[in-house]
Amino acid sequence: MWVALEGGDGSGKSTQARLLADALGAVLTREPGGTAVGARIRALLLDPGTTALDARAEALLMAADRAQHMAEVVAPALAGGRDVVSDRSAWSSLAYQGYGRGLPVEALRRLSDWALGGRWPDLAVLIDVPADVADARLSAAGRAADRFEGEGDAFHRRVLDGFRTLASAQPDRWAVVDGTRPVEDVAARVLAVVRARAGA
Ligand code: TMP
Repeated sequence: MWVALEGGDGSGKSTQARLLADALGAVLTREPGGTAVGARIRALLLDPGTTALDARAEALLMAADRAQHMAEVVAPALAGGRDVVSDRSAWSSLAYQGYGRGLPVEALRRLSDWALGGRWPDLAVLIDVPADVADARLSAAGRAADRFEGEGDAFHRRVLDGFRTLASAQPDRWAVVDGTRPVEDVAARVLAVVRARAGA
C-alpha cells in the first residue's frame, strides 16, 4: 500500500509520516526531494532566492521530481512488496499549484497522472490544521521561512480549502484527521484509518 500524508505547512504531517512509516515498517519518502535529483529540485523550489518563478514552471519542476521519485523509489518499493509512506504526493500539486497559485486543477491532475504513469497513492491522509494554528506553529519553530512558507495567509488558506475540497470530492481516496490533537493521538488515528482502509 502507498499512503501519502498531506496538509498545509505547519500541519505536522512530516512527523506523522515518520511515525506511520515506523509503525508499518514501510519505506519513508517524500515529495519533493525523495531522490538525489529531487533533492536538487527541492532546493531550487524552496529557496526564497528563487524569485519570479512562473507558476507553470513551478508545477513542472514538481512533476519532474515526482516522475523521478516514482521511477527510483515508489515503483521499486511497491514491486518489492513494501509499503510506502510518502510525506506529500501529487495531491499537493493540485492544492498548492492549483488552488494556491490558481492554475487549472484538471491540467495539474493530467500532468501528475503522466508523471506517475497513472499510479496514484492508494490513500491520502489530510492532517487538517486550521491556518492560524499552523501559522503559530511555524512562528514558534523560529527558523527562516522557505519560499512556500513565506507566502501570505491568503495563499495558505486557499491551499487548505483546496485540500478539504479534494478530500471531500473523493472520500474513497482520502481520510481526514484532526491535526490539532496531541502528536500521539493524531498518530493513533492515522494508523487506525490506514489499517481500516488496508483491510477494506
Ligand atoms: P514540505 O516542506 O512540506 O516537505 O514541502 C515542501 C513545500 O513544497 C511545501 O510548502 C509544499 C510544496 N509543494 C508544492 O507546492 N507542490 C507539490 O506538488 C509538492 C509535493 C509540494
